[in-house]
Amino acid sequence: MKEISVLFIGDIVGEKAFSLVCKKLPEMIEDRKANFVVVNGENIWQGKGLNEDHANKLFESGAHIITTGNHVWENWKSRPLLAKNDKVIRPYNYPPGNPGRGFHIFELGDKGKIAALQIQGRTFMADIDCPFRGADHALKVISLHTPNIIVDFHAEATAEKQSMALHLDGQVSAIIGTHTHVPTADAQILPKGTAYLSDVGMCGSHAGVIGMSQDVALKRYLLGTAHKYALAEGDMRINSVHIVIDAETGQAMSISRQTEPDFEKRLG
Ligand SMILES: [Fe+2]
Ligand SMILES: [Fe+2]
Repeated sequence: MKEISVLFIGDIVGEKAFSLVCKKLPEMIEDRKANFVVVNGENIWQGKGLNEDHANKLFESGAHIITTGNHVWENWKSRPLLAKNDKVIRPYNYPPGNPGRGFHIFELGDKGKIAALQIQGRTFMADIDCPFRGADHALKVISLHTPNIIVDFHAEATAEKQSMALHLDGQVSAIIGTHTHVPTADAQILPKGTAYLSDVGMCGSHAGVIGMSQDVALKRYLLGTAHKYALAEGDMRINSVHIVIDAETGQAMSISRQTEPDFEKRLG
């Protein structure tokens, strides 16, 4: 049986986390014997987007595909990268006319082809095109090429993520949630063979609020006004998920989530 070992790295928040991921990625790939590596890069550049240098360093470190999300649009300088590099993808269901692509089909030599597709939710987020119809539309094309499909579902609401999982179960290899920056404990293989995790969590400082400094986050809530975004410092962690898929059928064989360095182990 041909297997594809997939390593998926959660949203990288800030330059320090970016450097840490670039440093650790080769050993993480070695450890999982990963053949295909997807990294979410929507928050690398001071929390918003990424540039060509960031993308190149991630590819040099072993990434095959970089996904993004809503914050990539807040950095005007990321848009040329989306337009230029088809291995840096953005959510498929943004209205036509925006730069970039929502999926990429990668050739893995004797393992065959594997696709990465990104979709974005609408609940508590921008009112873009329907993610469900968007996924259906993209999969009509992708499934002509490969059954091996990894979906990054970038969404706020767990209910929307679980609904998408049920909608796509059996049609894709894995649906991995991103965007909330907090990992969830629901890694599972759904009844029709799709691996699922509501959110992989982020790579960055866990000393603040979803990567933002405590001071800024608290002011925003306590004072109810806007305050300049600042990144949190310290307690750096990398959150990832490892999925093994049967390359003949595209079905998931296993899924496991990891936080490095492991918080509970450090307490012990
Ligand atoms: Fe994010
Ligand atoms: Fe996001």
